[in-house]
Amino acid sequence: MSDKQPNLSNAKKVFIKTYGCQMNVYDSDRMTDALAPHGYTPTSEMGEADLVLLNTCHIREKAAEKVYSELGRIRDFRNERAPGAKKMLIGVAGCVAQAEGEEIMARAPAVDLVFGPQSYHRLPELLSKAQTGRVIDTDFPEEDKFAHLPAAKKEVTISRGLTAFLTVQEGCDKFCSFCVVPYTRGAEVSRPVAQVLAEARGLADAGVREITLLGQNVNAYHGLDENGRPVSLGALCHMLAEIDGIERIRYTTSHPRDMDDELIAAHRDLPQLMPYLHLPVQSGSDAILKSMNRRHTAAEYYEIIDRIRTARPDMALSGDFIVGFPGETDADFQATVDMVAKIGYASAFSFKYSTRPGTPGAQMDDQIEEHVKAERLEILQAEITRQSQQFNAGCVGMTLPVLIEKPGRNPGQVAGRSPYLQAVHISAEKDLIGQILPVEIIGQAKNSLEGRIVTADRIAV
Ligand code: SAH
Ligand code: SF4
Ligand code: F3S
Repeated sequence: MSDKQPNLSNAKKVFIKTYGCQMNVYDSDRMTDALAPHGYTPTSEMGEADLVLLNTCHIREKAAEKVYSELGRIRDFRNERAPGAKKMLIGVAGCVAQAEGEEIMARAPAVDLVFGPQSYHRLPELLSKAQTGRVIDTDFPEEDKFAHLPAAKKEVTISRGLTAFLTVQEGCDKFCSFCVVPYTRGAEVSRPVAQVLAEARGLADAGVREITLLGQNVNAYHGLDENGRPVSLGALCHMLAEIDGIERIRYTTSHPRDMDDELIAAHRDLPQLMPYLHLPVQSGSDAILKSMNRRHTAAEYYEIIDRIRTARPDMALSGDFIVGFPGETDADFQATVDMVAKIGYASAFSFKYSTRPGTPGAQMDDQIEEHVKAERLEILQAEITRQSQQFNAGCVGMTLPVLIEKPGRNPGQVAGRSPYLQAVHISAEKDLIGQILPVEIIGQAKNSLEGRIVTADRIAV
């Protein structure tokens, strides 16, 4: 593929700023990889960049508005550069680009290039067009983007560390009434099994020990195998666990309706599959769930959690909640707080409902006042914090296998993650990085644990 693409001149620098979810983090790396054969290396200094890319998020109003203020800042920065300084192209990628491409072109004349998440494989070609005029590409192309994106060089993957994201599914067909994702990312598509396994082998070969499979609805994965048969996420996890070097597998984000028996059984049977599950429910009220078009009840969610906990009793649960959805009464909100209390989350995210143009929620009557949303968010977040501290406190005294990932904040310290995704700080030497070691949890800080290595012998997870 790369020999068909225009060859831009050598030794250029790209600065990418990433907003939003892990899929954007993954995409930013893939854009870096797509630009590498064309002479671009990444920089963390905007000042030395030939190309500045914002990889944007449209999920809530605040996220989208941030893009315009950042674009103003970059424009001023570019204008203030010395006359004769090298040209700096400005590009906007991601979900705001997809949703508001024309508006960006109109509101931000400094922008040279706008392109949506399905066009990243065309980036070198778009860039060469942008040398002579402004470019916008927000089509949903027919071709498979992933088949055309080059893999990272081994040394690049090594430099990215021991854990890696791997997008296996993209897009969404669920159309929850509050959400922009089906519009910004398009229809749900699963990558073929062979493509996923090849990418995972490349990661393992470069020393990656833990892979997080990504998708907006990752557990709806149904990629085809060589015989054209669909493979579920549970079955895919079994295949990935066979790859030498892959010691931990995680996945996010899941939808309750796609939590099938095969995946739940994989949590029981597959030691590599970590006991942590992010399973957003959004609300504990049936009336609100219905109006959100989530297509399941609170009782069904409880039932799924029961099945998961039967298969894997120590499963750490996480979720997403929205407060102040149109029509949410005090009783509806209380049902959400009760749900959090009843389930006992290891962690959870909660948001004030944000009206998104073009979604059914934006047309609904009974929009909730901002101050009510704020009060509800505060109450819910207090309960979530209580839950997660309780979960962390329950780990003190336990010995957990920790993947030692990187040097810690202080000298003589290393940092890693427990199976439950908790950050663990340990007093130990850097040469242990890359190992999974038994760590006794001896203390708890606000968002992390403190541990002590029990023995430097490697253990099975
Ligand atoms: N696919 C995932 C979620 C993707 S968006 C799922 O189905 O659960 C991530 C989270 O952002 C959602 O779970 C939801 O809690 C939140 N979110 C999405 N749209 C929102 C909106 N309009 N206002 C506030 N929060 C929103
Ligand atoms: Fe958005 Fe719902 Fe799709 Fe999740 S399942 S991405 S919340 S529409
Ligand atoms: Fe945001 Fe797009 Fe992810 S809207 S949350 S960056 S899929």
